Amino acid sequence: MSRLSARLEAVVQLVSPCRTLADVGTDHGLVPIAVVLRGVATHAIAADLREAPLAVARRNLARARVGKRVTIVQGDGLIALRGRAVEAVTMAGISGQLMVRLLEAAPDVLAGLTQLVLQPNSEPAVVRAWARGHGWHLRDERMVEGDGRFFVVCAFVPGVGEDPAYAVAGWTDAALARIGPWLLARRDPIAARWCRAQHDRVRALVVDGAPGLAAELATWQAACALLA
Ligand SMILES: C[S@@+](CC[C@H](N)C(=O)[O-])C[C@H]1O[C@@H](n2cnc3c(N)ncnc32)[C@H](O)[C@@H]1O
Repeated sequence: MSRLSARLEAVVQLVSPCRTLADVGTDHGLVPIAVVLRGVATHAIAADLREAPLAVARRNLARARVGKRVTIVQGDGLIALRGRAVEAVTMAGISGQLMVRLLEAAPDVLAGLTQLVLQPNSEPAVVRAWARGHGWHLRDERMVEGDGRFFVVCAFVPGVGEDPAYAVAGWTDAALARIGPWLLARRDPIAARWCRAQHDRVRALVVDGAPGLAAELATWQAACALLA
């Protein structure tokens, strides 16, 4: 198999060992293939809404010779996983809003999961805030750079009470959800570059006269100062 992109590599690396993992919105099937070949999951499901991506996944599965260790499932989000005893779900390369919609559409499937590894292409704050409000603690997170873009990957586990990741003095929950509490705590160097890019983008808007961005600009300024 060809090597995974830095983005998908980060997704796979954040998965804890499990029996069955489902990659929802799998497209090419590279995440399910990697988790079974590396022994991170005993069995994986490559799930997608559409047949065309699953045809690509089918070809990749055959090439990787994973046999029955990966099952292809066609259907809508987590609903397609009903009755399949899945422990872990990965979702990558779709928007944060869509991820939340897919998670909320199948509470019965969600209740049986022990981990979620999510790489939203946009709105990571929406995903972190949803997790925090729905009993999922942020276990770890990574930021990677590729093709001139930044990608964040978040690993969540079921948790009780307040998520300790957000116990950071001097920062609001909203700011932490936007920046990433572990990225901030770790002084992550890629997150530092991303924060600088966010800061410069918002400052340019403010200079152009866009209203209502003072608080956001202050958040990015503070994050840049801490991560510098
Ligand atoms: C941009 S691709 C991302 C592929 C892969 N996960 C990655 O990160 O490289 C998004 C995939 O999500 C699938 N998708 C979109 N909506 C979906 C849904 N409701 N349920 C399952 N898959 C969906 C699309 O068919 C497409 O294959």
